[in-house]
Amino acid sequence: MFKIKTLVVATLILISQQLYATQSAEEIIKGRKAMFSENYQNAKKISILLKSKKIEEAKPLMKKISDNYKKLLDYFPENTKEGFKTEALPSIWENKDEFNTLMQKASDDMLKLAKAIDNTEDLRAVQKELMWSNCSACHSRFRAPH
Ligand code: HEC
Repeated sequence: MFKIKTLVVATLILISQQLYATQSAEEIIKGRKAMFSENYQNAKKISILLKSKKIEEAKPLMKKISDNYKKLLDYFPENTKEGFKTEALPSIWENKDEFNTLMQKASDDMLKLAKAIDNTEDLRAVQKELMWSNCSACHSRFRAPH
């Protein structure tokens, strides 16, 4: 009897852990998608603001994108490789250091951009270099075609 009870309890614990893991994977995948979407919205806002030379208004958005990238470093654990419509490619987990380095660079570049816009002749070129090029550099290797 005792053994059966132990087995039942152990099985229940396993099942509940599994459920918990599944749920948190869903939360993590949805959470990272939401942050990438927010970054995209903010990047578009930055472009519009800079077109009309609203430099000071654009700076807080750059900081926000930089902070999101830093948070995103923790949003690719092993149990979030698939499911919940993720577009993340397996290459992320095969090249985790490279992926994290790109994410960190994207974050650092947004802070550089906030400084660079104070004294540049060409706002478009500097945005391309320090913002947009990082999106495509990472997507081309680590995000599924969509
Ligand atoms: C270091 C890597 C990296 C960088 C830099 C990066 N992305 Fe992504 N992006 C990804 C990955 C990986 C996904 C797929 C996430 C998923 O579906 O789980 C993604 C997904 C997205 C999505 C889809 C979100 C959704 O709702 O499914 C958008 C939009 C996006 N990125 C925009 C951008 C833009 C704009 C930039 C630059 C300003 C950028 N990303 C920079 C890796 C990156």
